[in-house]
Amino acid sequence: MKLNIALLAGDGIGPEVIDQAVKVSDAIAKKFNHEITWTPALTGACAIDAVGEPYPDSTHEICMAADAVLFGAIGHPKYDNDPKATVRPEQGLLKMRKKLGLFANVRPTFTFPSLIDNSPLKRERIEGTDLIILRELTGGIYFGERGRTDDGNTAFDTCTYTRVEVQRLAKLGFEMAMTRGKKLCCVDKANVLETSRLWRETVQDMEKDYPEVTVSYEFVDAVAMRLVQWPNTYDVLITENLFGDILTDEASVISGSMGLMPSASIGVHTSLFEPIHGSYPQAAGKDIANPLATVLSAAMMFEDAFGLTEEAELIRSVVNKSLAEGIVTEDLSGTNKAYKTSEVGDWLAKNI
Ligand code: IPM
Ligand code: MN
Repeated sequence: MKLNIALLAGDGIGPEVIDQAVKVSDAIAKKFNHEITWTPALTGACAIDAVGEPYPDSTHEICMAADAVLFGAIGHPKYDNDPKATVRPEQGLLKMRKKLGLFANVRPTFTFPSLIDNSPLKRERIEGTDLIILRELTGGIYFGERGRTDDGNTAFDTCTYTRVEVQRLAKLGFEMAMTRGKKLCCVDKANVLETSRLWRETVQDMEKDYPEVTVSYEFVDAVAMRLVQWPNTYDVLITENLFGDILTDEASVISGSMGLMPSASIGVHTSLFEPIHGSYPQAAGKDIANPLATVLSAAMMFEDAFGLTEEAELIRSVVNKSLAEGIVTEDLSGTNKAYKTSEVGDWLAKNI
């Protein structure tokens, strides 16, 4: 099969972890007789430095022409503490989500048997956790009208949702639940927010189309608590953009390291695959960052964008093997030998 993939390495550790995902994907291509064309493009702080814009049109065209996008991370500390900066790397990310129509962010949380004691949560709480948070990604407060009053002393951000936006996200949630544990949790704040009441009403109307799925409606504050108390009782959770942003970071600690969790953003035009961690600027260029989240994102890409399940399974199984055999970066090595980012990538490629 011919796979045409846009490669957006981004900033910080992005290029290093992306390199490992490319190595692993190329090894898969060789083994299964696929032909991958990687087309690199700039995004994030490096794009601002090069062309003054974090998601240039040239990058957008490359993404639109690709079958899938593999993305590293963006962000640079020089923008973080400057509230007056007019262009920011994160704007590029939001623009990319909007322009590619990446309406659903799929963030799985699962545990690795060999790492269960790395989690800050007790083994008995997290064993068996296998949940997916489906976060709406192109609406809500992230994209609503915002501003300041003339005197600058009052600021506002608005959260808007349409029924259609809720329906397309919820449809994906119901369909995913059908292929898994048949449980769907709609996370909202319907006791306070009108947008949440629209979410709840819309999902309730859809229940009849999926009679096998058990649906629960829970307030986001309660879910924040239950997610660390009983994570293994959840299956698929659907939620709006900002709640999803917060809950997915919370959920990421369950597995024991942020460096492990992949994600997919399902798009209208194309889909994008990226690790859930950020650009980790302190580690940039040191060859120490954990590449597994990006490698597992490539596995999601093989499966979701190209239907290549066997290829995805092979990637997951060598990742599990590397964890079990201690071929891991310093975030997971404890008192044992820490491998370099590139060494982990080489090992995975060789084992494929
Ligand atoms: C994420 C990130 C982004 C978000 C930032 C970098 C804009 O935190 O992908 O979760 O808030 O969506
Ligand atoms: Mn986030």
